[in-house]
Amino acid sequence: MLDKVEALKKEIESFPVSNSDELEKFRLEFLSKNGKIQSMFKMIGQVAKEDKAAFGKSMNDLKNLAQDRFDELQSSFSFSATTERSATDDITLTAPLSPVGSLHPLTQTLEEMKSIFYRLGFTISHGPEIEDDFHNFTALNFPPNHPARDEQDTFFVRKSDDPKEDDLVLRTHTSPVQIRLMEKQKPPIRAIMPGRVYRNEAVSPKSYFLFHQVEALYVDENVSVADLKDTLITFAKLMYGNDVKYRLRPGFFPFTEPSLEMDIWWGSKEKGKWLEILGSGMVDPNVFKAAGVDPEKYTGFAWGMGVERIAILKHGIDDIRSFYENDIRFLEQFN
Ligand code: DAH
Repeated sequence: MLDKVEALKKEIESFPVSNSDELEKFRLEFLSKNGKIQSMFKMIGQVAKEDKAAFGKSMNDLKNLAQDRFDELQSSFSFSATTERSATDDITLTAPLSPVGSLHPLTQTLEEMKSIFYRLGFTISHGPEIEDDFHNFTALNFPPNHPARDEQDTFFVRKSDDPKEDDLVLRTHTSPVQIRLMEKQKPPIRAIMPGRVYRNEAVSPKSYFLFHQVEALYVDENVSVADLKDTLITFAKLMYGNDVKYRLRPGFFPFTEPSLEMDIWWGSKEKGKWLEILGSGMVDPNVFKAAGVDPEKYTGFAWGMGVERIAILKHGIDDIRSFYENDIRFLEQFN
């Protein structure tokens, strides 16, 4: 009987298994209820009493051997199963896509704004984020003691005691790019100037120490307030749809006269509020003079609008800080 056990052992070891179908044959042959190992167990009745213990032990060894070989083969096949091709696989299917990122909501909003102004015939211009006092304030007709120059609002990069040397600041608005543009280009000018601006403000759901603006400048002969209003209203409709609820209010800026502010209604009809999206106005003659443009010949309008505000209105976002936290759960909503 022990010879038979030995013969079965050899059979288990040499049974050819090279794929999962053959592995199943192996299982049926040796490990199943009606397989050879179980059948041989049943033959214990024919074994002499004194040999029963040795027989039982060698049968258990045999069973473990078969089970171990089975387990080992099975794990090697399941590992390679994904690369095994069967006749029913559709090899023309595209591979599953890995997750892809998307443009930041502020970039998306800026792109939308740019495409609107391209349609209206505006070009694009850029200026430095570190500005001198002249371009950020003086040329824009800020009086020497204007509160915006105060360290409460402005981040100073270099503050100088020497009156011949200009202070350097992180620009507090994109308006200095207007000056730089007029310094290097003669009218007619029709340009937008997007960019990042900085203000030394307490961080809250409503304000952050950096944000983005899109400045615009239109300079030519005979430009009027009617042109300004028309451009602003056209923008609002293209951005938010023809039924957008807007209002224009008089405002004040040192660099424009008269000045206008535009508000857009935020929220539902019953429950909502006005949200200011931009400041604008007719370019003050002093600004033209500082930038080398003849105020007798030319008039123009300008505005500066907040990109975050525009995006907040578009998407109903209630905390400005979400734009800068890179929380994937926030960003994913703008795919
Ligand atoms: N620079 C202003 C600000 O930061 C916005 C502004 C108002 C820009 C009127 C303009 C303008 O060009 O004409 O709040």
